[in-house]
Amino acid sequence: MNTQLEMKQKLEALQSKASVRILAMESSCDETAAAIIENGRTIVSSVIFSQVDTHALYGGVVPEIASRAHVDACDRVIDQALLEANMTFSDVDALAVTYGPGLVGALLTGVNCMKGLSYTTRLPLIPVNHIEGHVSANFITTAELEPPFICLVVSGGHSHIMKVNDYGEYTLLGQTVDDAAGEAFDKAARVLGLNYPGGPLLSKLAEDGDDTYLKLPNPKVEGRYDFSFSGLKTAFLNACHKMTQNGQELPRADLAASFERAVVDSLCAKAVLAVKESGLQTLCLAGGVSANRRLRAQMTELSRKHGFKLCMPELWLCTDNAAMIGSAAYYEMKKGTLADLSLNAIPSAALQVKKK
Ligand code: KG4
Ligand code: ZN
Repeated sequence: MNTQLEMKQKLEALQSKASVRILAMESSCDETAAAIIENGRTIVSSVIFSQVDTHALYGGVVPEIASRAHVDACDRVIDQALLEANMTFSDVDALAVTYGPGLVGALLTGVNCMKGLSYTTRLPLIPVNHIEGHVSANFITTAELEPPFICLVVSGGHSHIMKVNDYGEYTLLGQTVDDAAGEAFDKAARVLGLNYPGGPLLSKLAEDGDDTYLKLPNPKVEGRYDFSFSGLKTAFLNACHKMTQNGQELPRADLAASFERAVVDSLCAKAVLAVKESGLQTLCLAGGVSANRRLRAQMTELSRKHGFKLCMPELWLCTDNAAMIGSAAYYEMKKGTLADLSLNAIPSAALQVKKK
């Protein structure tokens, strides 16, 4: 039988199956991860091989090294995910892989690995957008969560406020007009002499700092729900350079706390505005920056004050992992999304969004 027709029929059969297990792979940046997810909500197994230590030697992700490390690790993480689940490929119903956005070489490793597996195991392959994966981490952590809801996606490359109308259906309400929140954290961290990845290290340093030490400008943007972090970052860098030129030792903890406060205040203000104006009752956080301690605490307070429900992925599900890809894949499967062997990596893949 024609392979693609066979895959289509298998995928359609899954749409009415009571228990669907998806083996998912994520390799868009510097984590090689595999996971088995049941019905989009339950983690059967999850393995993450982080390359952070390798890239930390260079102060940031080196794309070529990332690709090679993914090639080394992809078979191992898949074997490990199956082993931890006590399963073989015959217990798996479908495969899923991140096709973008991300680093092209890194993405290609996962895409080719899963295309090869799909070919040999004859399991249908579901392509997943990485951002959709981050949003879906919330379906794992909050079992009762159903769209519609507002989602603040804040990662190394993206800062979006979206209305999630239905599974896999988004309206973009606002986004950063320049740097992403994670990118801003990483750049500010570098000036404070912190290594990669800067965001979590800056946040740790900020714990003992005075967040009123440095007054940073309130970013001005046209769109009601848009962000801008580049002005903040420049003001921060200038203040640090000036102190260094004057021979002053940097009060690193106070600077970190001031910067973190400025970014988090801006994220909270826009996200809460979007929830209130949407008339929806639920706000979800997603992406690496949603692991930020201050963001989580401040949003929790605001949710109590304004009476909306706040969902946040467990800390380890905020940063890159394959469980979130398996969750997104389950809902894509329900819509009939299927890759064929021409699937390619798309480094700048955008989410399919409706206009406001
Ligand atoms: O979602 P993610 O793991 O990868 C991308 O898809 O980009 O996000 C990584 C970003 C990095 O910029 C990292 O510094 C930031 O998330 N990040 C944090 C924290 N944990 C990760 N930023 C601030 N505070 C944190 N605790
Ligand atoms: Zn990510």
